[in-house]
Amino acid sequence: MEKHLNLLNEKIEKAKLGGGVERIASQHKKGKLTARERIDLLMDEGTFEEIGMMVTHRSTDFGMEKEIFLGDGVVTGYGTINGRLTYVFSQDFTVFGGSLSETHAEKICKLMDLAMKNGAPVIGLNDSGGARIQEGVVSLGGYADIFYRNTIASGVIPQLSAIMGPCAGGAVYSPAITDFIMMVEKSSYMFVTGPNVVKTVTHEEVTSEDLGGANTHASKSGVTHFTCGNEVEAIQLLKRLLSYMPQNCEEKPKSIPYTVVGDERRDALNKLIPENPNQPYDIREVIEGLIDEDSFAEVHKDWADNIVVGFARLGGKSIGIVANQPAVLAGVLDINSSRKGARFVRFCDCFNIPLLVLVDVPGFLPGTDQEWHGIITNGAKLLYALSEATVPKVTVITRKAYGGAYDVMNSKHIGADMNYAWPTAEIAVMGAKGAVEIIFKKEIEKSENPEQALKEKTDLYAEKFANPYGAAARGFIDEVIEPATTRLKLIRAYAMLENKVVNNPRKKHGNIPL
Ligand code: HXC
Repeated sequence: MEKHLNLLNEKIEKAKLGGGVERIASQHKKGKLTARERIDLLMDEGTFEEIGMMVTHRSTDFGMEKEIFLGDGVVTGYGTINGRLTYVFSQDFTVFGGSLSETHAEKICKLMDLAMKNGAPVIGLNDSGGARIQEGVVSLGGYADIFYRNTIASGVIPQLSAIMGPCAGGAVYSPAITDFIMMVEKSSYMFVTGPNVVKTVTHEEVTSEDLGGANTHASKSGVTHFTCGNEVEAIQLLKRLLSYMPQNCEEKPKSIPYTVVGDERRDALNKLIPENPNQPYDIREVIEGLIDEDSFAEVHKDWADNIVVGFARLGGKSIGIVANQPAVLAGVLDINSSRKGARFVRFCDCFNIPLLVLVDVPGFLPGTDQEWHGIITNGAKLLYALSEATVPKVTVITRKAYGGAYDVMNSKHIGADMNYAWPTAEIAVMGAKGAVEIIFKKEIEKSENPEQALKEKTDLYAEKFANPYGAAARGFIDEVIEPATTRLKLIRAYAMLENKVVNNPRKKHGNIPL
């Protein structure tokens, strides 16, 4: 037995060294952790069970039969994160640059199959030079096997991707299909074609960082949902994100024990909306005023910031927040903010996370740029996502709710369960001045003092429509509430909606305007 155990231990030690001490040193020199160090930080201590440590590649081309590394460039397994079963794969850059071979792909697929059968999240820690160049098409096949599983698992189990090194070529499409991407600043990049190909094809000169670094994807493309200053931060964020989610689509997120304290008044909310309706304020202050302390995890913070989305807790329960941001472009809805909101709503709906929609929106952004790039199709995404969502849906209109954007932002008409408005709400087809200029055009032109006439009509229109009472009279708004009482109203509304059941008609799947 001793002989056998020695051989086993020898192999385990060898596998743990990945591509060897020199390559590990080179990885550290770049400020990067190894695949195993990342897993150690991610999983609860002592809980990680590895699967496939002895797997080796099968390639014999280009002398590959002499270059065998146990595990073949990816560490796969399961364990717990804050006590909850989670599957993880972590690419090992020290072995062929973490490149994806046939067997490397098989290990990831095996893990994903287990995660699906057992209903638990999958985390991918990506650090790879892409397809194993020596293997050719089998590597491409391996990628496709993973993409297929990512797609089938979408909406069944949460899938999170951290990019901690290169992620290039078609390899980007696995993270892209997963629910959330985070990138580590300065040491990670994602692109379909790298700077050299870009230069050849389009004659543009661009660095890897500018083309596909963390900040580029966080602020320009919206490909990444989060950026992290370093790998440890990324791992902490992965754990935090998981805490808002259930294990799978059949479960609800775990709540944190919470006892309602008194009337839960938040008086500061009464002072947040400026007297002048055209003056901006930061919707994040409203969010902070409503939710449990320090519970907001903002998603896509640096992209399309005229809408704010993120997870929070309210009375200990996980919720997803979608909020117009009047501090940026007056909170107008445009292409990117609609896409951002829609994607987040769909995630929450997949995983039974109730939605809170905060509304202060002057409408959709006008202009050729928006029209030519498809604000119609893209705005429809948010409308579709909110209409389709069956989780508890609650709306609070803090100020403006104008035009089509009123309908889109979780109005009663598209299935919201509870619709509140603050007394400062203005719910109308359009702003008073614009409306008056259209419907009283001739009358104003003919009047002796057109400026005075415009003002009078505008005041009249504003008095009649720029308030929440017309909508409340029709039941489109359930209650007009003092802002300070909103938190308690919301806690009670979500408790009331706890067992909500809505079954949309059976279908294969809907056809969201992509
Ligand atoms: C095999 C690879 C590899 C790959 C890197 N290595 N990428 N081996 N297949 N794709 C190996 C290197 O030979 C080297 O081996 C080790 O990994 C580290 O690589 P370095 O180049 O020394 O590291 P670095 O300077 O940090 O550069 C990293 C890199 C570069 C930028 C990723 O290696 C690179 O450009 N690799 C090729 C990337 C690529 O073109 N991949 C194919 C993309 S197409 P030693 O033995 O020296 O340690 C693709 C299609 C996917 O992926 C399609 C899916 C549908």
